[in-house]
Amino acid sequence: MFAIYLGCLLLLLYYLYQKTYSYWSSRGVPFDKPFLIFGSFFDIAARKKHIFHVLREIYDKFDTPYVGIYILNQPTLIVRSPEILKRILVKDFDKFLNRKVASNESVDPIAAHTLFSSKDQIWRGIRAKISPVFTSGKMKLMLPLMKECAEDLNAYLTKRAGETLEFRNVTKKYSVDIISSCAFGVNSYCLKDDNSEIMQVATKLLDLKSFVRNFSVFSFFFVPKFVDIFRVTFLDKTASDYLIKMFQSTIAERQKKNIVRNDLIDLLSNLKDNEKFTDEYKFDDIKMAAQALTFFSAGNDTTSLTISFTLYELALNPTIQDRLRQEVQETFAKHGDFTYDAIYEMKYLDMVVNETLRKYPLTSFLNRKSASKYTFEETGFTLDEDVAILIPVAGLHFDPEYFPDPEKYDPERFSEENKNKIQPYTYLPFGDGPRSCIGQRFGLLVTKMALAYTLKDFAFERTAATAVPLVFNSGSFFMQTKTGLHMKVVKL
Ligand code: HEM
Repeated sequence: MFAIYLGCLLLLLYYLYQKTYSYWSSRGVPFDKPFLIFGSFFDIAARKKHIFHVLREIYDKFDTPYVGIYILNQPTLIVRSPEILKRILVKDFDKFLNRKVASNESVDPIAAHTLFSSKDQIWRGIRAKISPVFTSGKMKLMLPLMKECAEDLNAYLTKRAGETLEFRNVTKKYSVDIISSCAFGVNSYCLKDDNSEIMQVATKLLDLKSFVRNFSVFSFFFVPKFVDIFRVTFLDKTASDYLIKMFQSTIAERQKKNIVRNDLIDLLSNLKDNEKFTDEYKFDDIKMAAQALTFFSAGNDTTSLTISFTLYELALNPTIQDRLRQEVQETFAKHGDFTYDAIYEMKYLDMVVNETLRKYPLTSFLNRKSASKYTFEETGFTLDEDVAILIPVAGLHFDPEYFPDPEKYDPERFSEENKNKIQPYTYLPFGDGPRSCIGQRFGLLVTKMALAYTLKDFAFERTAATAVPLVFNSGSFFMQTKTGLHMKVVKL
């Protein structure tokens, strides 16, 4: 009898497997063979590999314009072809406006009103309002606040000259100081105080160490239904509540004392004060706090990792480091300061940062979904409505056809002469099209300020503690390394 039950159970499982995993084969789309229950994401769910490696492996296995995969039982299309990417990101943007991520106002009102996860008209309303906050004019006004933090970073290194430091942590202190100052109007003193409360909050916000946090963020990106069922939030709840309170008390204090600082809080408050009756999207306290929280969560690890990966590569490539330092010192001597124009004058600095973002594309992928049925002209294939699309930035950035010798750190790829040869839609560290990163200008400025202020006075050296090659922490959201980024800091 037992054998019959077992046989029936196995037959049922086989039937379910076939039914679930025949979506792509029945549509003639090449697909990555799914592993039972987890599809292509077993190694990610089991924390065996970082998504950066999984996407590269799938990308490298195929040479077709797109590949079907399953994330658990959900069909997802990985698009490899730059021509089709242009359609998705720019030409037919309206048909791929949203990301397939969770957005449930009753479960997570903050996430539902962030630029990143909001949908359709809500996204359009927020984006239109927020875009003017990131113009170069506004960045210039914020520069003095950034400069204070860059000087603190310089002072921090001066005190520790001669030591080998873990730089991911050092640069995180710097970026949390800047984002707290610019987005929350408070000094977090992370560089001055090892026990800064805000640093602890920033670490907790997107920390995926616990199973619950890992599950919440995985569900947010890949199985939005679980967010509805298990009512989990994208950001850690205690950390985000702390930041919301901080944001609201700063606004109240500013109104009482009429303080003007030209930071993101002022800009958000002005947007709210100047709202018209006819505006489709109107801010309230929670919606404003959601924007500040987005800036905080999207803006600190991205910039701090870009800075620390750059310093790491400079330590491994002393010739590049020397050339960059020469440019930084000459520019400083010419302007007597790192003004906005001075930062943008440094062409080699720009090349170096671009190459860091190629080799370390922090988010590894972009995501979108189809708003309706859509036929790709190139192949005649019709994609169903509401199918998740993953854009494998990690795969594109390491494709030798677009970036020869991709493991090599080579800023020359982005020289005046070479950068125009890069095929469009193969270099996507900030995404592309109307839904690309809104904080790009801010992030680049923060990154370049840190590099200018440190390279002017310090050298960064490889030691026995410097991990080569790097191993990524499979349980991290951005590309975090397992062992940190250790370099010796030498005062010049
Ligand atoms: C080096 C720094 C940064 C990198 C590499 C980066 C990367 C990205 C990427 C890849 C996306 C997705 C784009 C797409 O889907 O096409 C994105 C979106 C976004 N980023 Fe950044 N980012 C950085 C800094 C920042 C900063 C400093 C902020 C805010 C202060 C920010 C705010 C956002 C927001 C709000 C979105 C969602 C935009 C939307 O959906 O309309 N980012 N970022």
